[in-house]
Amino acid sequence: MKNSSTTSGPKKVTTKVIAAMKKEKNRIACLTAYDYITARLLDQAGVDLILVGDSLGMVFQGHETTIPVTMDEMIYHAKVVVRAVDRAMVIVDMPFMSYQANDEEGFRNAGRIMKETGAGGVKFEGGERIANLVRMTVRAGIPVIGHLGLTPQSIHQFGGFTPRGVTPAEAKQIFKDAVALEKAGAFSIVLEKIPASLAEKITKSIKIPTIGIGAGMHCDGQVLVVSDILGLNEDFHPRFIRRYARLAETIRQGVSAYVKDVKEEKFPNKKESY
Ligand code: KIV
Repeated sequence: MKNSSTTSGPKKVTTKVIAAMKKEKNRIACLTAYDYITARLLDQAGVDLILVGDSLGMVFQGHETTIPVTMDEMIYHAKVVVRAVDRAMVIVDMPFMSYQANDEEGFRNAGRIMKETGAGGVKFEGGERIANLVRMTVRAGIPVIGHLGLTPQSIHQFGGFTPRGVTPAEAKQIFKDAVALEKAGAFSIVLEKIPASLAEKITKSIKIPTIGIGAGMHCDGQVLVVSDILGLNEDFHPRFIRRYARLAETIRQGVSAYVKDVKEEKFPNKKESY
């Protein structure tokens, strides 16, 4: 079955719905959102999963990496997104150093996200290394998505944004990580910038859905950063992004027209006044 059924009806997306989508070969559509208006539009358009990604550090705050993002900032954006959404499941990224020091701290921070935002689950970067934390979190009733491959919180260790899992050793480790996340109870795994063949092997080997970003067409779902698909970020052109709109140009044109009207005293007119 193809995606059409996900956009009809008010059915709230839950972990059960996501699991069923893999079984039914119904692809999962995921996008990021960081604000109320965008989240509302995404939900109305039938997006299944909305990720309040720590990519907001780059997209919303203008940082070079996701590293500076804090728990308080994630909670602020997650609350705003949850308020906007009726159908999609909202997942919140655990920011850098909210779970790396020890499992107890990660567990408590995941609980804080759930209590303070009303989100449906959290996402951690890592595989075998975080398996115990995932187990503790899931045991407490918190749905978890794992994230493997080019995990942006390790960007300084990787030394750049090049694809991961290209060498046999790294591919083997990513595969083991995916199996460890499934065993630990994660309900889905994001696979970022890895070869399509590796993503296919993982997708076919585990029962939980994979969601790819730059990981080819065999994943059970796809995720992209919303500003990338809408053409708001004109300087970013990696090959895994497809642009579905050119909003940067639309916004510039609209704002220039407004500025011109104000300067030329054409706005407001009589009908626009009281
Ligand atoms: O932070 C983010 O937006 C993400 C996705 C791009 C997967 O982790």
